[in-house]
Amino acid sequence: MASATVGRVTTKTGASPASQATETSGSTVSRERGRPVLVAVAWPYANGMPHLGHIAGAYLPADIFARYQRLAGNQVLMVSGSDTHGTPITVRADIDGVSPAEIVNRYHPEFLRIWDDIGISFDLFTSTMTDNHREVAQDVFVRLREAGYIVPEETVQFFDPQAGRFLPDRYVVGTCPFCAYGEARGDQCENCGRTLDPDILLDPRSKLTGAVPEKRATTHFFLRLSALADDLLAWLETRTGWRRHVMNWSLQFVKDGLHDRAITRDLDWGVPLPTDELGPGKRIYVWFEAVIGYLSASKEWAARSGDPDAWRQWWQNPDAASYYFVGKDNIPFHTVIWPAMLIGYGGLELPTDVPANQYVTFGGAKASKSAGIGRGVREYLDRLQPDALRYALATVLPEQNDTEITDADIIRRINDELIANWGNLVNRVMAQIGKRFDGRVPEAGELDGAHAKLIDSVDAGLVRVGELIGRVELRAALRAAMEISAEVNAYLYREEPWKTVKTDPARAGRTLAVSIQAISGITTALAPFLPFTSARLADTLGISLDVWERQPVPAGRALTWSGALFTKLDPDALD
Ligand code: MF3
Ligand code: ZN
Repeated sequence: MASATVGRVTTKTGASPASQATETSGSTVSRERGRPVLVAVAWPYANGMPHLGHIAGAYLPADIFARYQRLAGNQVLMVSGSDTHGTPITVRADIDGVSPAEIVNRYHPEFLRIWDDIGISFDLFTSTMTDNHREVAQDVFVRLREAGYIVPEETVQFFDPQAGRFLPDRYVVGTCPFCAYGEARGDQCENCGRTLDPDILLDPRSKLTGAVPEKRATTHFFLRLSALADDLLAWLETRTGWRRHVMNWSLQFVKDGLHDRAITRDLDWGVPLPTDELGPGKRIYVWFEAVIGYLSASKEWAARSGDPDAWRQWWQNPDAASYYFVGKDNIPFHTVIWPAMLIGYGGLELPTDVPANQYVTFGGAKASKSAGIGRGVREYLDRLQPDALRYALATVLPEQNDTEITDADIIRRINDELIANWGNLVNRVMAQIGKRFDGRVPEAGELDGAHAKLIDSVDAGLVRVGELIGRVELRAALRAAMEISAEVNAYLYREEPWKTVKTDPARAGRTLAVSIQAISGITTALAPFLPFTSARLADTLGISLDVWERQPVPAGRALTWSGALFTKLDPDALD
C-alpha cells in the first residue's frame, strides 16, 4: 500500500477547485499543505474477488481522483476495507461449509494484492473485523442512542418455523412490489435497485428452507430517520455539482418517505451491540456499521501514523472535502443514511460529493461470460499491463450512464488509442534523441511561433485535465489528456525532425526538445490514470511527480531509455 501523504509539503496549490477554496477560506488549513481531501471508497464484501465492473465502478475512479489530489498538493486520505459482516458473508460461508471469518481471511489478502497490482493507492485498506472498527461503531451507536435517534421497538418479524429462527432481510425472498421481479431479496431488489423491506415483498419465502415465514414479535433497535429527515433534506438541497442521477435518486429516496429503519438483526455474525438489553442473538446490522468504516478507518490510519488525532483534519474541519466513490446500488446509504447518522452524531463533516457510478456491462456472449462473471481482475492483470487495463477501463467509466466494453474493445483501446497516440509519441521522440542526439535533450533555443504555442497548449491542457478531475469528470479528463498527446503528434509530423535532422540539425533538435517539454507535461496529466508507466517516464525525464505542473527538462540532460512503454497486443491476447 502507498504510504501516507500527510506532511507532503509543496508550494504548488495546483488548479483544483479545492486549492482555490483553500486560498479564499484560509483559517485552519495551511496553504502550503493544501486542502485535506478524504477519498472514501465503497467497502467490498470479502466474499469473492472483484471483477472489472467493481474496478471501473469504484476503485479506479477513486484512485485517479486521489492521485490527482496528491499531485495538486492536497492532503489525501484514501480509505476503505473489507466489508466482513452481513448475510453476503454468511451465505457464502454456509455454501463453502466454513466459518465467516475463514471467508474473510481468504479474500482480504487477495484484495490487497489486487490493489497493489493494479495500482489502487489506498492509504489504508482495513476491514470491519478489527477491534477499532467495533469500538468506533459502538461509539456511534451509543451516541445516537443517547441523542434519541436510536430507540428500541417491538416489531413483528419473519420467522422460519422449519429452521426455528428469525430471518435476516436477505434470507426472505419474494416478488418486488416495484418491478415485479420474482427473486427480489428482502433488503434490496437486484433488478430495479430499490432498497426494500422484507415486509413489502409479495409472496415471501424463506431462503433457508423455502417455507412460508411466520410473523413473530421481537425487539430491535431502530434508527429514527424520520427525526432526521428535515435536516437531511435541508443539507441535500445545499449540494451543488452532484451527478444528476445521484441527486435524483437521493431526493427520490427521501421523498418516498424516510422511515425508521431497524439497525439490529438476528444474527451471530456482526458487530456486537454495546448493550445487552435485547438479549442474546442480535447484532448490529451490517449497513449501519459498514458506513461507519470510513470514520473508523480514518482513526485507524491516524493511530498507525503516530498521531491518533490526525483523523480530525478530515472529519472535524469545515475546510476539508470528502468524496465517496460507490456504485449506484450504494447511493442511498451514502447520500441519505450515512449523512443522517453523521447529522445525528454531530460534529463530523458530511460528504462533499458522492460521485456514484452506474454499471459497466461486458458485451458479447463470450465476454460477458469471461469478463463479467467468470473472469476476474487477476486474469486480466495476467495478460495486460496494469496501466493498459486502467486506460481501457477509464475510457468507459459509467459516470452518467451504464456503459459497455468487450475484450475486443479493451484490445482496440490499448492498441489504437493508448499505444498509437501516447506510446508512439514517446517512442518516436526518445528514439530520435537516442539516435541523433546521443540520448541527451537537445538545445531548444528561442521559442516562438508554433513551438511556443504548442507548449502553451500543453500547459492549458494540463490545467483543463486538472479541472475535469477536480469535478470528477474522469473520462473527459482522460480524453483531454490524450488530445494534448495528439496535438504533439501533429506538431511532430509537421516538423518531421527525422527529415530535418539531415539538413538542419539545430531545427530538428529544437523540435525534439520542445516535444520533450510537452511529454513532460503530458506525463503529469496522465499520471493519475497511468501511474506505473508515468513513474517510469518521470524517472527517465528526471522530473518528479509531486506537482500538477509541467516541469522543464533542461538541455543536455541524459535520457536513459530502455524501450517502449507499452506492449502492443495480439488480437487474441484475451482469449
Ligand atoms: N459491501 C457493500 C457492497 O458491496 C458496500 C459497502 S459500502 C460501505 O455493496 F460504506 F457501507 F462500507
Ligand atoms: Zn424491483
